[in-house]
Amino acid sequence: MFHDGRAAALEEQTGGPPLNPAEMGMPDKASVAARLRENESYGAAFPETFGPGILDDPEAAFDALAQAVAAFERTDAFAPFDSKYDRFLRGEATLSDEEELGRVLFFSEQFTNCSQCHRLALSPMDPRETFTDNRYHNIGVPENKALREANGVALGRSIPVSGATRPSAPRTSAESSARRPFATSR
Ligand code: HEC
Repeated sequence: MFHDGRAAALEEQTGGPPLNPAEMGMPDKASVAARLRENESYGAAFPETFGPGILDDPEAAFDALAQAVAAFERTDAFAPFDSKYDRFLRGEATLSDEEELGRVLFFSEQFTNCSQCHRLALSPMDPRETFTDNRYHNIGVPENKALREANGVALGRSIPVSGATRPSAPRTSAESSARRPFATSR
């Protein structure tokens, strides 16, 4: 998780932003715990869920915060799958002709190849498609060196890919422009 893959578990990711100067920039775990105590409903819910005194111990409070956010991210409320596209997949909505054309192009292997990277499920009709294969693809965006350094990630770090279902062979530039017929019409 994160753009550089530095977190392996959801709890590790959710614990990142509060103390990261590039994100929420809180000075330390004690101030995060204090911020939680300030909020009446958190002040009640954290001890109820994680035990009395949890918010008085900065380490434990911070771990509880990361667990709570991760638990929320696993709920259907966080990912309700209720877009028009999701409803279409469940047979509850009809796509316009334009939308259907876009869908076909998106999943086409001879025109756009979007789904080579933006597809989680093997079937284009899978009801819980998230449009990502959860892998890291180099699409030519330069590294943000300052941010990598601030996040303690080595420059040029590449993420080993495991469990790949659709390995992609490197293409020559002639092949890739032949695969992008729309790019030449501008
Ligand atoms: C080689 C892999 C690859 C292919 C092929 C690809 N993308 Fe992407 N796409 C990415 C990556 C990686 C990102 C994330 C870039 C980032 O956030 O820095 C991205 C980001 C996006 C986003 C922004 C998503 C967001 O949540 O911000 C959209 C929209 C998108 N792509 C659409 C497309 C479409 C449409 C196509 C086909 C025409 C396509 N992509 C083809 C890898 C790919």
